Amino acid sequence: MTEMNSEPLQERINRKPRIESRTGDIMATECDVAIVNLFEGVTQPAGATGAADRHLNGLITRIIDEGEASGKLGNTTLIHAHKDSPSKSPKRILIVGLGPQSSFDIPAIRTASAAAIHRVKSFAKTVATVVHGAGIAGKDSRASATALTEGTLLGTYSFDKYKTSTENEASHLDSVTIVEFDDDKLPDISEGIADGIRSATAQNLARDLVNEPANQLTPSAMLAVAEEVAATHQLKLQVFDQNECASKGMGAFCGVARGSREPAMFVHLTHEGAPTNPEKNVWLIGKSITFDSGGLSLKSPTGMLRMKGDMGGGAAVLGAMLAIGDLAPDINVHAVLPITENMPGGDAQRPGDVVKSMSGTFIEIVNTDAEGRLTLADAIDYAKSQGAQQIIDIATLTGAARVALGTGNSALFTNRQHLADLVLAAANSAGDDMWQLPLDPASKRLNRSDIADLKNSGGLPAGSITAAHFISHFAGETPWIHIDIAATSMTEAGTGPFKSAGATGVPTRTLIETVTRLADHS
Ligand code: BES
Ligand code: MN
Ligand code: ZN
Repeated sequence: MTEMNSEPLQERINRKPRIESRTGDIMATECDVAIVNLFEGVTQPAGATGAADRHLNGLITRIIDEGEASGKLGNTTLIHAHKDSPSKSPKRILIVGLGPQSSFDIPAIRTASAAAIHRVKSFAKTVATVVHGAGIAGKDSRASATALTEGTLLGTYSFDKYKTSTENEASHLDSVTIVEFDDDKLPDISEGIADGIRSATAQNLARDLVNEPANQLTPSAMLAVAEEVAATHQLKLQVFDQNECASKGMGAFCGVARGSREPAMFVHLTHEGAPTNPEKNVWLIGKSITFDSGGLSLKSPTGMLRMKGDMGGGAAVLGAMLAIGDLAPDINVHAVLPITENMPGGDAQRPGDVVKSMSGTFIEIVNTDAEGRLTLADAIDYAKSQGAQQIIDIATLTGAARVALGTGNSALFTNRQHLADLVLAAANSAGDDMWQLPLDPASKRLNRSDIADLKNSGGLPAGSITAAHFISHFAGETPWIHIDIAATSMTEAGTGPFKSAGATGVPTRTLIETVTRLADHS
């Protein structure tokens, strides 16, 4: 049974702040804070920032001259204007830096908006903002408004459902209003807001699931969320319990599940976007270990601490399905979540055991803590048995990803470069940084077992690459992408583009964008 103090999906979706738009003059808008912007190197502000400067009798120009407002991307300067403000004007003005105009892009709008809202959310109830980039920089109004909305909602996010005191509420924001001078741009802006709300809501759902502790988000609680996503977004749902998984031959997945008292389950969600053309499909497979103790190859206390987040891949997939259900792209999108804990119970699998995967590959378990690849192996075999034409798996798979790339990039692997190019381009526009790593033959050899077809760990060297090689064995010739998010799925407070501690929700928006592009291209 689920204990999760679960918030209905509709309430998550209606979380504050409201994002609105209207035409008018931002300096004649009554609000707690008006957000205007500044490119790096600009000394004479123009546009709305110029209007704010005139409203403040040249104070902004002076602050720039004195070196306080730098225009660096995400740099914020708060000006109090209570004293000389007539009632129909902002109480405060926040200048947010957009970075150099030469490298300005849509992800910069998202980053700047997140930084701006992060700066004021603890005290401001009503915020007015210009659309960054739609002025002199000439960016498309709809895309700019989308990025602004995403930055705002991702920058406001905090996970505080277990804080009973409202005193330290992280956000007091009620509304953020985009104020635009030009009437003609308003329809595009309001469509952009709707796009941004959809994708940020998806990503914030993923963050909620990752932040949720493992005693709350048990496998059955995660299933309940999948059921709710399916029911509210017209998705087909199939669920296989542990016995059904065993009879399908999923020995690798079942081997991991054995050590836990919480029943495992295998979830398959489908958006039927091309019902007459079943081959036009993409499969999103998310690692969904609700808690990874390591199993009998037990983790250390510090290594185990963040392992409530070991379902980050599945969370991103569920978030993406929320948006995909709304967008209804012309492609069949299948989501697979092999959900279980990895625990060292009395029936746990042992180091040295050999298990048989659904497709018949024998795997020697040399380390029960290399469990993610085992669950993904059977999920990929299942997807292929159902006619998968292309597979993307997302997994908090290896600590080695952090050693290789730090926390700035997720690691991407593929057996089809053109598919990787499409995903990397989608990631680039989503602002989810990824870096491709090779599947080299020298690393592949490290997965050889003396007594079985493969072993489940290649040891210390190239740990992310050997894990990817392991999964690629199961993908075989099916076009496949693997994204290792072990180092990017959770973050420390104050770091990362959206600043708040805990889950980042990456790469939810990349998945949405990838599926949208695949619907158009394939
Ligand atoms: N869930 C972990 C990977 C992980 C580590 C995610 C740190 C997030 C932060 C995975 O199941 C794991 O334990 N991997 C092992 C593999 C090793 C035993 C070959 C690892 O990275 O140490
Ligand atoms: Mn593990
Ligand atoms: Zn794990």
